[in-house]
Amino acid sequence: MISIGIIGYGYWGPNLVRNFTELNGARVAAVVDLDTAKLDLVRRRYPAIRATTDLQAVLADPAIDAIAVATPVHSHYELGLAALMAGKHVWIEKPMTETSVQARKLVDEADRRKRVLLVDHTFIYTGAVRKMAEIIRSGDLGHIYYYDSIRVNLGLFQRDVSVISDLAVHDFSILDHLLGENPVAVSASGTNHFPGTPENLAYITLFYGSGTIAHANVSWLAPVKVRQILVGGSRKMITYDDVEPSEKIKVYDKGVSFTDDPQQIYQMRVGYRTGDMWAPKLDVAEALQVEGEHFVDCIEHAKTPQTDGRLGLRVVELIEAATSSMRRKGETVYLQQHERAA
Ligand SMILES: NC(=O)c1ccc[n+]([C@@H]2O[C@H](COP(=O)([O-])OP(=O)(O)OC[C@H]3O[C@@H](n4cnc5c(N)ncnc54)[C@H](O)[C@@H]3O)[C@@H](O)[C@H]2O)c1
Repeated sequence: MISIGIIGYGYWGPNLVRNFTELNGARVAAVVDLDTAKLDLVRRRYPAIRATTDLQAVLADPAIDAIAVATPVHSHYELGLAALMAGKHVWIEKPMTETSVQARKLVDEADRRKRVLLVDHTFIYTGAVRKMAEIIRSGDLGHIYYYDSIRVNLGLFQRDVSVISDLAVHDFSILDHLLGENPVAVSASGTNHFPGTPENLAYITLFYGSGTIAHANVSWLAPVKVRQILVGGSRKMITYDDVEPSEKIKVYDKGVSFTDDPQQIYQMRVGYRTGDMWAPKLDVAEALQVEGEHFVDCIEHAKTPQTDGRLGLRVVELIEAATSSMRRKGETVYLQQHERAA
């Protein structure tokens, strides 16, 4: 039985507490928050869980194996490092840290202490993204030409992070997982319509060595909520509509082929293929349940999480690069290349 202490009981923390409470093989031993009103809520809902403002006491408790950090991003590094230094395994919310320097330090600390470090990029554990990854890895889509995402809605305006950190972060982690390849360059444009606030709208393009191109349109200023991804391959194409209650994923047997016509040397022959569409059955388990089970399994069997600190670091580097490009009106920013584990 893995005992977990959860720091932060704001918007997202309650989802972690509920999921870890329901998980076989795990128990929530403590919830830490600086806001005592939040702790009162914990006591009312979960009388058996220790609710406290005293983080040091929780970190010093040898009965607690792991810490989940669900506080605003500016505190992730400090809290994550303190938990690792206390010998705990760490679950940290996305984005992992404010800077890549901080993210790298957490990765090194976790390596040095042989602790599990999981970054909560929840989408990776959804039935929809797992199915897309399975289809892409089977080779069914062929060569991936493009990834095109629209992730827009009205609000929630954040005070401390831009829409890139809040929304595009999901596309960055999904792309990392689906393509298994690091982008070589990024170009982004975006703006804040309200002076003194972070950018609330951005258009980001990622370029890959394999020729794949990816684009994300993210905004807190749209009248409707749209969560749509298209993935176009040389053999098939996928649409993913996360707002759709069922049939979120559709696979289209459609494509284009170009052949030179030897009879008419100045013309290319374009062939359009339109075959069947199918909507694969998806695992409907809550992503946080799947992810929680995976975290416990990684701790018990010394495994590396699918969304480990290295993935978290790559995503933070992309956020930095996209932000830097956006602040220079879309200038291309080249990314440092890392070795990826097989
Ligand atoms: N994985 C996801 O899909 C997902 C979704 C939403 C939010 N998040 C992430 O979860 C994190 C928290 O976001 P939120 O929307 O819940 O924020 P929030 O502001 O609603 O809640 C944060 C809570 O942490 C507490 N807190 C702040 N600093 C603290 C400290 N030093 N020690 C103890 N408690 C502290 C606050 O009092 C508050 O109750 C962010 O990193 C966010 O990006 C992830």
